[in-house]
Amino acid sequence: MNALTYSDYLDLGTLLSAQNPRTPPESDRSLVLAEHFFIVTHQSCELWFKQLIIDLDAAAEALAMANDPVAAESCTEYLDRSAEILRILSEQIRVLEKLPGRHFAAFRRYLGTASGVQSRQYREIGRLLGNDRRQGRLYEEFAAAVSRAGTSITEVCRSGPAVGVFHRITESLLDIGNRYWQWKIGHVALVSKMLGDRSGSAGTAGADFLLGRITMPFPELRRLRSEAYADLDEARRPQPTDLPLSGEREVRLGGDVGGRRGP
Ligand code: HEM
Repeated sequence: MNALTYSDYLDLGTLLSAQNPRTPPESDRSLVLAEHFFIVTHQSCELWFKQLIIDLDAAAEALAMANDPVAAESCTEYLDRSAEILRILSEQIRVLEKLPGRHFAAFRRYLGTASGVQSRQYREIGRLLGNDRRQGRLYEEFAAAVSRAGTSITEVCRSGPAVGVFHRITESLLDIGNRYWQWKIGHVALVSKMLGDRSGSAGTAGADFLLGRITMPFPELRRLRSEAYADLDEARRPQPTDLPLSGEREVRLGGDVGGRRGP
């Protein structure tokens, strides 16, 4: 009989002993608990980053074999799962809005120079997805698969569901791009709530630095799709001068305000 337990299977001994707040244990209890909460949220994000990399990687591999219908369908499964993971990741960021700011200010000294900007997994996700200036591996595999199938991305966008799996992949990629962007927006909002205009533990300008790194992947896909729809879109629009926008700070999809630009 298999005596494997739930705890052994999930290696819970290792997983649940990895939360080690640096706040001295004799400090105010709610301060120690706040740091525990901070650690758990970051660890959960890193676990989801791990799964996301696995799924995005598998999607890229499946695209390289997309002439096989089973591989192409599997790609949509990996991509849809990735989009859901990114949704969860945005919510995990929001949960940290319940970290009391006074406690964060009090235990922050124990973080030293540790910062999310050092996350290797996050950088790997950036390489797979790309940003507003650079296509990532996922999009490159998609463009190559479409071209091997003797069609073009413009044609895929124009045809919609009639082209089947490539249409579904296009929609999933756009969902992934939006949710990645939403994570970044949620993170900068959280940082603004927690730090105000104070700098980050890695020494950056904090929220302003992150604002400059907000970026939307798949620029070519979004441009081609927009062009493909332009002919259908004949509505008359007001001129920008009619709109009450003057004086507002402008943030473009590419993220060009403050700090360095995206990864
Ligand atoms: C109280 C909550 C948080 C604060 C105040 C915060 C603050 C910051 C700041 C200021 C930076 C810029 C680098 C620096 O100077 O340190 C940064 C970057 C980053 N943080 Fe957070 N963060 C928080 C929560 C999280 C969570 C839960 C994650 C999930 C893993 C995370 C992941 C990252 C990543 C990946 C970057 C790099 C972003 C990029 O390169 O665009 N952060 N964070």
